[in-house]
Amino acid sequence: MTSMFDLSGRAALVTGAAQGMGRAMALALAEAGADVLAVDRNGAGATNTAEQIRAMGRRAAAAATDVSVPTQVRQMFERMDQEFGRIDFLGNVAGESIMAPPEQISIEDVEQVLRNLVIGRFCACQEAGRRMLAAGRGSIVNIGSLASITALGRGHIAYSMAMGAVAQMTRELSTEWAGRGVRVNAILPAQVMNPGLEKRIAENPRLRDKWLSGIPAGRMGDPSDIRGLAVFLASDASSWITGALIPMDGGNLALNGSGSVGPGSTR
Ligand SMILES: NC(=O)c1ccc[n+]([C@@H]2O[C@H](COP(=O)([O-])OP(=O)(O)OC[C@H]3O[C@@H](n4cnc5c(N)ncnc54)[C@H](O)[C@@H]3O)[C@@H](O)[C@H]2O)c1
Repeated sequence: MTSMFDLSGRAALVTGAAQGMGRAMALALAEAGADVLAVDRNGAGATNTAEQIRAMGRRAAAAATDVSVPTQVRQMFERMDQEFGRIDFLGNVAGESIMAPPEQISIEDVEQVLRNLVIGRFCACQEAGRRMLAAGRGSIVNIGSLASITALGRGHIAYSMAMGAVAQMTRELSTEWAGRGVRVNAILPAQVMNPGLEKRIAENPRLRDKWLSGIPAGRMGDPSDIRGLAVFLASDASSWITGALIPMDGGNLALNGSGSVGPGSTR
């Protein structure tokens, strides 16, 4: 019996694929059978991921692309056309932020964050959407954040504005395209360990406890936590799921700010 999660014969493009959740997503899709274009600003990292995928027996290619630059995003899709001649799945994972208090952040920095997280994701959705609509099928996953629907403080103003836009982008695109076979969903992760978070914990060790106090599951996220969701959303197992903002957060969004974690906890 063919697994409902089987991605054999499908072609996926994943951004941010040099490390972290993008890399974990690309490898999980390949493990489920997909061929993959691994994209990252870090070309050497993307190449490394593509090599790992080829070692699994799948087809893979790598592209060094800055997703905040629309001409580069369009070139990345031309590469996808040349390499695979189709696109069944887009994982919009690449991104980073600039943090500063709202009363101090420069407008140029806000623009850069919006270019990276909003314009970059939208341009990729548009290019993928055009191809998927023509084919009558496809699945797109945008990585949002807790900051797509709640506030984080601590200098996250530009990031939150951008991730809020990613939530609405997902809902609008899913609404526009659902009747033509193209699904668009978002994954909203809580804190998933990456070099940026490691650095912030090293600078302020109390931050780790602060984050854990909001995660009922009692542990930080790991990039590998995205593997199951990625395969599910790329596969026919999720064929009636679109427009969803899916928390991947160990229970964070379910917990009210004045709630406590653990039996008898007074934290
Ligand atoms: N880690 C978390 O706690 C967390 C939580 C919520 C949302 N997110 C979002 O998830 C995504 C992935 O997070 P991660 O933890 O895997 O990050 P990471 O820092 O481990 O990896 C991000 C990757 O994206 C690439 N990248 C950044 N900007 C790029 C650009 N403009 N063009 C091309 N590549 C670019 C980097 O080179 C890197 O390989 C990001 O968009 C992040 O904002 C992360």
